[in-house]
Amino acid sequence: MTAVTENGYAVRAIRPEDWERVKQLRLDALRDPIAHLAFLETYENAAGNPDSFWQDRATGSGEGSTTAHQFIAEAPDGTWAGSVTVLLEEAGTRDWAGNAVERRQGHAVGVFVRPEHRGNGLIDALFATGVAWAWEQDATCVRLFVHEENTRAQTAYRRLGFAPSGLVVSFSKDETANELEFVLERPA
Ligand SMILES: CC(C)(COP(=O)(O)OP(=O)(O)OC[C@H]1O[C@@H](n2cnc3c(N)ncnc32)[C@H](O)[C@@H]1OP(=O)(O)O)[C@@H](O)C(=O)NCCC(=O)NCCS
Repeated sequence: MTAVTENGYAVRAIRPEDWERVKQLRLDALRDPIAHLAFLETYENAAGNPDSFWQDRATGSGEGSTTAHQFIAEAPDGTWAGSVTVLLEEAGTRDWAGNAVERRQGHAVGVFVRPEHRGNGLIDALFATGVAWAWEQDATCVRLFVHEENTRAQTAYRRLGFAPSGLVVSFSKDETANELEFVLERPA
């Protein structure tokens, strides 16, 4: 399903045939000036992945998946302007860091809007679609991690209704860097 915003962006889940554009958007995101704050992966690591990696991602996080959905926004000129991926985490499992997952929840990752498309509400449209998908999967909340110095992203997340949970983690890339967990509770 595709949602079209008032300013003409088409927001939809990715499809298997999109894999080259999925790759290009990710590599462009990893060259953003604040990619070192925004993403745990480096450009060099991502660029080294074989085509099969991106093909698997386009399928595994595509419109047919029940465990992850990557949503992209296509601008009227055809540019892929931004993306958010929502992973579904099951109660009783452990997350990628080994911490217990206590409830069924969405986890937003890979949040990126190209600089020339920022500040125009696109991130709101991407999250509206991503969060709606999480609610459809019976998630009780959606969480994400944001670097303590990434103040622009934090401002956007607060506007979208996310609030800090108090959980602060240091990922292994840089143990002095704190990532704050922000959570959006499912409306009653
Ligand atoms: C994070 C991101 C997706 C947000 O999208 P965006 O279009 O830039 O967000 P918006 O402009 O709608 O909202 C940002 C808010 O922060 C404000 N802002 C801008 N620069 C800021 C700064 N340096 N510090 C604090 N707030 C700032 C904006 O005025 C806006 O405020 P508002 O809510 O009152 O309108 C986008 O900036 C991006 O892709 N950044 C690089 C990648 C990234 O950081 N991803 C997130 C990883 S957790």
